Amino acid sequence: MATAHIESNLEDIAPIVLMPGDPLRAKYIAENFLEDAKLINKVRNMFGYTGTYKGKKVTVFASGMGIPSIGIYSYELYKFYNVQKIIRIGTCGSFNKDIKLLDVVLSSGAYCKSYFDVLLDGVDIDFIQSSDELNRKIMNTAKIRNVSLKYGKTITSDVFDLYCDSEEKFRGNFPDMNFLSVEMEAFGLFYIANKLGREATCLMTVVDSLYDKRSLSSEDREKSLNNMIEMALESII
Ligand code: HPA
Repeated sequence: MATAHIESNLEDIAPIVLMPGDPLRAKYIAENFLEDAKLINKVRNMFGYTGTYKGKKVTVFASGMGIPSIGIYSYELYKFYNVQKIIRIGTCGSFNKDIKLLDVVLSSGAYCKSYFDVLLDGVDIDFIQSSDELNRKIMNTAKIRNVSLKYGKTITSDVFDLYCDSEEKFRGNFPDMNFLSVEMEAFGLFYIANKLGREATCLMTVVDSLYDKRSLSSEDREKSLNNMIEMALESII
């Protein structure tokens, strides 16, 4: 069995998927966090691995960047591989004063001005919620591990906001300033999950901030990303 973009067999993919944007991060997670990890997709180098974490079967599958890319992979995984839950684990920017670099943010839902939903279903939805059940599990894990986790709304943008001529003009597109994170995929994932009656949420590490201009060392970045990966994995066992 294969789909247009995935070469895996049905039994190669676990019902729960962790989804980083970067294929090499999928490889990193498989090599450093999973036992018996096996490469199950390399079409377009969009690497997927399936292994176990503390005995639980889990797949790590990259999404690529942007709504069109995550839209394809989440659709095919839910629809053709019976995936039930996807946790996106990515990076984001922020223009919220309460959010600092390297904070880990859990998305309550994503606001988006994309045409994705219009083209797919002829509806125009601005905001879509993530899965309460997955969020509850992740917040519980954070509490047990005494890890600080920020929970709130995300902006999903079709452009990398840092490339806009005016950050202020960019922010003027959105209804309020109560967004914790800005990134480019969550809405696509949440939309597809909702459409197909499955679960999805999104954990992010903040790597750009309007209010915190420190430059990050690769060690700090890696530590925070590892923290987030572990939190996602602990939440699914
Ligand atoms: N904007 C959008 N996506 C991102 C950012 C950002 O600042 N940082 C990481 N992904």
